[in-house]
Amino acid sequence: MTQDLCGFGLGLRTEHYRDFTERRPAVDWLEVISENYMVPGGKPLHYLDTIRRDYPMVMHGVSLSIGSADPLNRDYLRELARLARRLQPAWVSDHLCWTGVDRTQLHDLLPLPYTEAALRHLVPRIHQVQDALGRRLVLENVSSYVAYAADEMSEWQFIGELLVQADCLLLLDVNNVYVSSVNHGHDPHAYIDAMPRERVVQIHLAGHERRGDFLIDTHDHPVCEAVWALYGHTLRHIGRVVPTMIERDDRMPPLDELLQELDQARRVAAEWAAQPAGALA
Ligand SMILES: [Fe+2]
Repeated sequence: MTQDLCGFGLGLRTEHYRDFTERRPAVDWLEVISENYMVPGGKPLHYLDTIRRDYPMVMHGVSLSIGSADPLNRDYLRELARLARRLQPAWVSDHLCWTGVDRTQLHDLLPLPYTEAALRHLVPRIHQVQDALGRRLVLENVSSYVAYAADEMSEWQFIGELLVQADCLLLLDVNNVYVSSVNHGHDPHAYIDAMPRERVVQIHLAGHERRGDFLIDTHDHPVCEAVWALYGHTLRHIGRVVPTMIERDDRMPPLDELLQELDQARRVAAEWAAQPAGALA
């Protein structure tokens, strides 16, 4: 089961541990990278337990590799479930991707072919994770730079099908939708409009970098204007303010800068909420 969570959050990063323990800034919840805390003891877990007393949390993993042809790593699932029991997060998420094969870790979130065979591969694996965790899994759409010749459907059709077939939930990364739309030349609004409203439990916003004709999902810049506009479009489509956070992983600014950026998300959501109901249809 997922728990209720609302408002605006940030990713908890080591650079800001002291801010959260000493200043307790006005953030509604925090997302923590699961793998950073799947270790016995030590400083990260100490900070995590301390900060958890003041903030609701969600867990976000990067190495489940749900799409890989390798069997799921049972040790990893056991440790993930152990951390979830300790933290009692509102939900546990990872990425709709593969990160390696043949026990080789590629350290990247690689896209899947959007085929019926990939759906048949993913559904029982998601059930296995959900059984191990005792709760529904939340999966995030990744950004991509290549596509497969074998694709049989669009990414948004694939995600829509998967969410229903596996009965799982979606972390919608609006920046990733935008990055992929530029890289592949598709309409990001069509993508957003195809997302099943009731299954979107969380939104990521982040910055990216332009390199030549491509956008790279670097998480080292503020959110750009086009992504803010797409966030507004996303709220109009979903019809409620989904818990939203800013992801920043590089060129880490002081926490106050991220808090200001989070205020921008609050403003976009407030503008949406102030619209007449007729405009929301
Ligand atoms: Fe993300």
